[in-house]
Amino acid sequence: MALSSEKKDLIRRAGFQEHFQADSWSDFNRQFFNGLAPKYDALNEVLTFGQQKRYKTRAVRRSGITPGDLVLDICTGTGDMAFLIADEFERSTVIGIDVAESMLHIARRRAAGRPDVEFRVGDAMALPFTDGMFDAAVMSYGLRNLDDLQKGIDEVRRVVRPGGKITFIDLGKPEGALRQLIYRAYFENLLPFLGRHLFHRGEFNSFRYLPESNKNFPTPTQLRATLTASGLRDIQTYTYMGGTVLQLTAVR
Ligand SMILES: C[S@@+](CC[C@H](N)C(=O)[O-])C[C@H]1O[C@@H](n2cnc3c(N)ncnc32)[C@H](O)[C@@H]1O
Repeated sequence: MALSSEKKDLIRRAGFQEHFQADSWSDFNRQFFNGLAPKYDALNEVLTFGQQKRYKTRAVRRSGITPGDLVLDICTGTGDMAFLIADEFERSTVIGIDVAESMLHIARRRAAGRPDVEFRVGDAMALPFTDGMFDAAVMSYGLRNLDDLQKGIDEVRRVVRPGGKITFIDLGKPEGALRQLIYRAYFENLLPFLGRHLFHRGEFNSFRYLPESNKNFPTPTQLRATLTASGLRDIQTYTYMGGTVLQLTAVR
């Protein structure tokens, strides 16, 4: 899929073109996350003040997934959501899919000896699965990686059976003037500063990328509208960490 003008602008603002050459957004993501993979989990711990496991577990419990389900974890990365789901729901099987081989390498190492979790290379924009194959699907911090939000969500919907459950987790927008001020100071000043002075290339870019990608990231209301336009129903919204993390659940 050719790069949209919005993505080209994001690539320029985040400085991606200084380090990567790609002609699709998926491929930029693949290169970026392959470079970041060895530090990704530690970075996430820092960004969430060590809270990510806690709220991801709560989000999994609200996902509507039930024991025995076959679940797809799209943009699985190092597999966090896949493991939490498989641990939470007996007899469930989780397939995690991602474009970045180095992220999957870590996920597969973590999965050694487990029959209930499996990882495959694949693109969220063209999922290599048949229609209605899964009882549920989750995507945690993957929405901003989709070439086209509506088409990406349509693709998630396609592979989930009617009545199946879908969960998205991503960065939210905190409410209240003070919280917004702290949030902006954190993302736009502190993170780029830390990135520049403490970390090298991969981390530096990730610190720039997050605030930049957040500028045009849809509001919860816009996300709900995109889910509705895709034909999803019973949409629920939950927030964590003072509104900085957003979960949307829906029924196919
Ligand atoms: C921010 S990480 C999220 C990882 C994990 N879900 C978590 O919650 O920590 C985003 C992941 O999406 C993957 N990704 C980006 N674009 C993708 C695409 N088009 N198809 C599949 N995976 C993609 C990246 O390689 C990366 O591992």
